[in-house]
Amino acid sequence: MKPNISTTIGTVELRSCIYNASGPLCATKEELNNIGKSKAGAIISKSSTEQYREGNPKPRYFENELGSINSMGLPNMGLDFYLNTSEELIQYEKPFFLSIAGLSLEENKKMLSKVVDNEFVSGVELNLSCPNVLGKPQTAYDFERTKFVLDDVCKIKDRCFGVKLPPYFDLIHFEQMAEILNQYPLDFITCINSIGNGIIVDIEKEEVVIHPKGGFGGIGGDYIKPTALANVRKFRQLLKNEISVIGCGGIKNGSDVFEHILCGASAVQVGTQLMREGVSCFERIENELIELMKLKDYLDINTYKGKLGVVNSM
Ligand code: SIN
Repeated sequence: MKPNISTTIGTVELRSCIYNASGPLCATKEELNNIGKSKAGAIISKSSTEQYREGNPKPRYFENELGSINSMGLPNMGLDFYLNTSEELIQYEKPFFLSIAGLSLEENKKMLSKVVDNEFVSGVELNLSCPNVLGKPQTAYDFERTKFVLDDVCKIKDRCFGVKLPPYFDLIHFEQMAEILNQYPLDFITCINSIGNGIIVDIEKEEVVIHPKGGFGGIGGDYIKPTALANVRKFRQLLKNEISVIGCGGIKNGSDVFEHILCGASAVQVGTQLMREGVSCFERIENELIELMKLKDYLDINTYKGKLGVVNSM
């Protein structure tokens, strides 16, 4: 029997638990259609602002064998474009998630109010963690502000809704953030966004590899998998069951997906590897996960989700 890798986020059903991260190759109509045609279990858009944004000056993305650095600065086509494109995407018979990243709370509220009239968007991911817009701190590192934002946006949300979080590193921060998140009717959290404000150096040129923000940018790929797994694990332990955890960070093959699910992820998103390999990565990763599950005699991702073993030495 073929292992079942379907999943449910809130009330939204996904044939496969593997889809794209809101980041690379999901900003234009062509890119969104390509994800639609692929084996991705869902489509999520690039984080949208109300208006079109050009983003930061190039070069703003770089990758090496260990991962990536980006300071894209939210280049996107603007909310109306994604709402208008949503109808075209239903032909792929998979959920379409809209990511939004307003530059102010007012902008986020305005965008969410516009989504209310749209029947083709399955869910909304509110990005509270972009590290790349000058003068705009990552909201989810400010706990009071996060609460303030959630108080307001949760009054408007009318469908599957969740937030994309930055990585946390200290156990007390996981506890404080989980206590806040548990107070709201969220369907999911996505963790993690890139690790903000890293630097990759070009040794030959003795220079930073990207130009915006003096070379500082969000780090993704292999570099961040252990941090992503720890965030998935800790939030799964601390959040109420109604809030699914979507893992993101360092997923490039079936074993990486397996590890995220073992830590508690209900679904996973692929970023750096999608940029590297294109949309064919979804079929390859799906097949690798299925082969691994067959080897381990798992028929469903729910049989091992969150069941990571620990060995207590104290
Ligand atoms: C960007 O567009 O700068 C990346 C988006 C993000 O990290 O949230």
